[in-house]
Amino acid sequence: MKLILSQLKEIVQPGLPLITNLSNAAAILNQLDNINWCGFYLVNGETLYLGPFQGEPACTLIPFNKGVCGYCATSKKTVIVPDVNQFPGHIACSSASKSEIVVPIIVNKELKAVIDIDAPILNRFTFEDADLLEEAAKILEVVFK
Ligand code: SME
Repeated sequence: MKLILSQLKEIVQPGLPLITNLSNAAAILNQLDNINWCGFYLVNGETLYLGPFQGEPACTLIPFNKGVCGYCATSKKTVIVPDVNQFPGHIACSSASKSEIVVPIIVNKELKAVIDIDAPILNRFTFEDADLLEEAAKILEVVFK
């Protein structure tokens, strides 16, 4: 798993366009086992919009008060959802998704984006995954500067 972090560090370049860095980052995150979607939602005002991802086409705009991503955006904390059907307001982009983790990317206390990863099995994400993805979020801060 640490391989993912070293790959991210290697591929991310501050001088490149945001979309370029996040596209490669999504491809790297997609190496995680047992996932069916991974990608980024970016902040515009109080709405998240779909950024680079790997997986099936997904919901394009998510208001801050909707879904797991919106909850992460308002709380600015990592959210682990063991069973998406038990999460009130969960937005089902794909019926294949059973569990989910969303991690904020914060630069100078300002939310810039969230990392969203879906899994086709229940209880996929652990605190270890949260630690890993929070490290990934830190590595990615530089692409928003
Ligand atoms: N399930 C998310 C929406 C995004 S998709 O999972 C790609 C949510 O409830 O915010």
